[in-house]
Amino acid sequence: METVATEGPQEWRARLEALRGEARQAGGAARIEAQHAKGKLTARERLELLLDPGSFVEIGQFMRSRGAAFGEDGVGPLGDGVLTGYGTVAGRLTYVFSQDFTVMGGSLGEAHAAKICRLLDLAIQNGSPVVGLNDSGGARIQEGVGSLAGYADIFLRNTLASGVVPQISAIMGPCAGGAVYSPALTDFVIMCQDTSYMFVTGPEVVRSVTHEDVTSEQLGGAAVHAAQTGVAHFRAQDDEECLRLVRALLGYLPQNNLEDPPYVEPDDSPGREDVGLDIIIPESPSQPYDMREVVTRVVDEGHFLEVNAEYAQNILVGLARLDGHPVGIVASQPMVLAGVLDIKASEKAARFVRFCDCFNLPLVVFEDVPGFMPGLDQEHGGIIRAGSKLLYAFCEATVPRLTVITRKAYGGAYCVMNSLPTRGDLTLAWPMAEMAVMGAEGAVNVISRRALADAPEEEREALRAQLVAEYRRRFAHPFAAAEKGLIDDVIEPRHTRARLISALHMLRSKRRRNLSRKHGNIPL
Ligand code: HXC
Repeated sequence: METVATEGPQEWRARLEALRGEARQAGGAARIEAQHAKGKLTARERLELLLDPGSFVEIGQFMRSRGAAFGEDGVGPLGDGVLTGYGTVAGRLTYVFSQDFTVMGGSLGEAHAAKICRLLDLAIQNGSPVVGLNDSGGARIQEGVGSLAGYADIFLRNTLASGVVPQISAIMGPCAGGAVYSPALTDFVIMCQDTSYMFVTGPEVVRSVTHEDVTSEQLGGAAVHAAQTGVAHFRAQDDEECLRLVRALLGYLPQNNLEDPPYVEPDDSPGREDVGLDIIIPESPSQPYDMREVVTRVVDEGHFLEVNAEYAQNILVGLARLDGHPVGIVASQPMVLAGVLDIKASEKAARFVRFCDCFNLPLVVFEDVPGFMPGLDQEHGGIIRAGSKLLYAFCEATVPRLTVITRKAYGGAYCVMNSLPTRGDLTLAWPMAEMAVMGAEGAVNVISRRALADAPEEEREALRAQLVAEYRRRFAHPFAAAEKGLIDDVIEPRHTRARLISALHMLRSKRRRNLSRKHGNIPL
C-alpha cells in the first residue's frame, strides 16, 4: 500500500505563513491605498485601535467565499471580506467583527454572514458584548439570495442577543439596503462624519422613483442620522474618534444582562456639595437654564457621556457615574423648547430607558417639564403613541429609579417622567419645584374663566394677576405634593449629589420582577 508522507513542521509552518500572509494582504496594496485616501483605516487597523494592544484573536481566518461566482474552482478570497474574533477592551472580553472594504467592497456573502453569525452565537452563549465595524457594499450581488439569507440569519441573532449582551455598531463606510437593519437592531450606532452613510434605498433609486436629486450624504450621512432621524446615537469626526467612543461606551456597560455595570473607583467625593446649584434656577419660571450643567455638576468628575446629543435636544439622555457606579440619565432641557415632551423626545427617552433597564443601569431623572407639546403636527404625528412608549418604558423598568424635580412637573409629563405612582423609587424636589395639572396662567384661564369674563374690562388684568398670584401661592411649591406623599423630600439643590448617591446605595439590593408573561405589548 502506498503511504503519503505527512507534512513536517517546516512544511506546515510554511503553509500557515503563506495563508496568513495572503489574509494580511486583504484586497491588495492598491485597494488599501484607496481606503486610506478616503480617510478610512483598514479593517485590521481599526481592530488594533479598538482592542487592547495585541489582544485580538481571530476566528475563521481560513474561511473562503465559495460558489460559481468565483471561477471554475469556485473558491474565493480568504476571510470573505470580514475579520471576526475576540479581544479585550480595558481588559474585558469583547467580540468583534470588522468588514474589509478592500475585499469585494466588504460585501456580504454566505461565508461572511456565517462568520458574523458564529460570533453572535459565541457572544450570546458566553455573555459578552459584540462590536460590529461596518464598511460594506451590502449583499454580495454574485451570491444572490444566499447573501440575503445571510442577512436574515444575522438579523435573527441581533434580535435574540438584544437585552442579553450589549451590541454596538460603528458605521465606518457604506451601509445600504436591508443591511441597515442589523445596526438598527443593536443598542448603539456610531457614524463617521463624511465617510459613512446609511439608507434603505440609494440616491439612484430615489431619483427614479420620487425624482428627488440627492447625494448619499444628504440622504443618509452622519449629520442626517445624528440630528434628524436619531438612528445614529453618536457622530464621530473620523475612525479614531469613532473607536474611542466605542471603548468609552463599553466602559459603562456590563458584559451581559445578568451582571452589574462596572464600578470604577471615583475621583470625587460622594458628599460633595455644589452651591452653584442653589442659584441655577432663574427667578422667572419662564426663563431657561442649562440642565446639562445641572447634570455635570452632580455626577462623578462632571463626566456625562451624552447619547443622541444632536437629536430631540429638548431631552438629554446619557451615561454617567455616581460614586463610581454607572447610571442612565434622563433630563429635560429647558434651553430647548422649554423642555417640552414631543414625539421625538418621547421616543428618544423611551428607547434609552429600555436600554438601561436591560442592562441594570439605575435611572436618574432630572425633571423640568411644562407638559406635552400641543399642536396639530404633534397630535396628527402620533404623540399619543409616542408618549405612551415613554410611559410604558418607565412603568415596566425594574432598575432603581430616582427623580429630581428641579422646577416644573406639569400635566401628563409629571406622570410620565418616572413618577412615584409608576413605581419610581424615590422623588426629590428642589424648593422651587411645582407639580400641577398646568402652569398658573393656563390654570387661571380655565378655572376662573367666568370670574374674569364677568369682571369690568378695566379691572380684568389686575384680577388675573391676583388670581395667578393666589394660584402660585397655593400650588407653585413642592409642599402641596409632599403633603400627599407624591414626593419623598424637598432638598437643597446643593445636596442633590449626596442624596442621589445615598438613595442608590439604599436601592442596591433592589429585587423587582414583573409578572411572568410571554412579552408585553409596548405601543411601538
Ligand atoms: C459585490 C461589490 C458590492 C456588492 C461593491 N462591490 N459592492 N461586490 N457585491 N454589493 C465591489 C465592487 O465591485 C468593487 O470591486 C469594490 O467592491 C469596491 O467598489 P467600488 O464601487 O469601486 O467602490 P466605491 O466607488 O467606493 O463605491 C462603493 C459603493 C458601490 C457605493 C458601495 O460599490 C455600490 O454602490 N455598490 C453596490 C451597493 C448595493 O447596491 N448593494 C446592495 C444593497 S441591497 P473591485 O473588484 O473593482 O475592487 C442589500 C440588501 C440587503 O444589501 C438585504 C438584507 C435583507
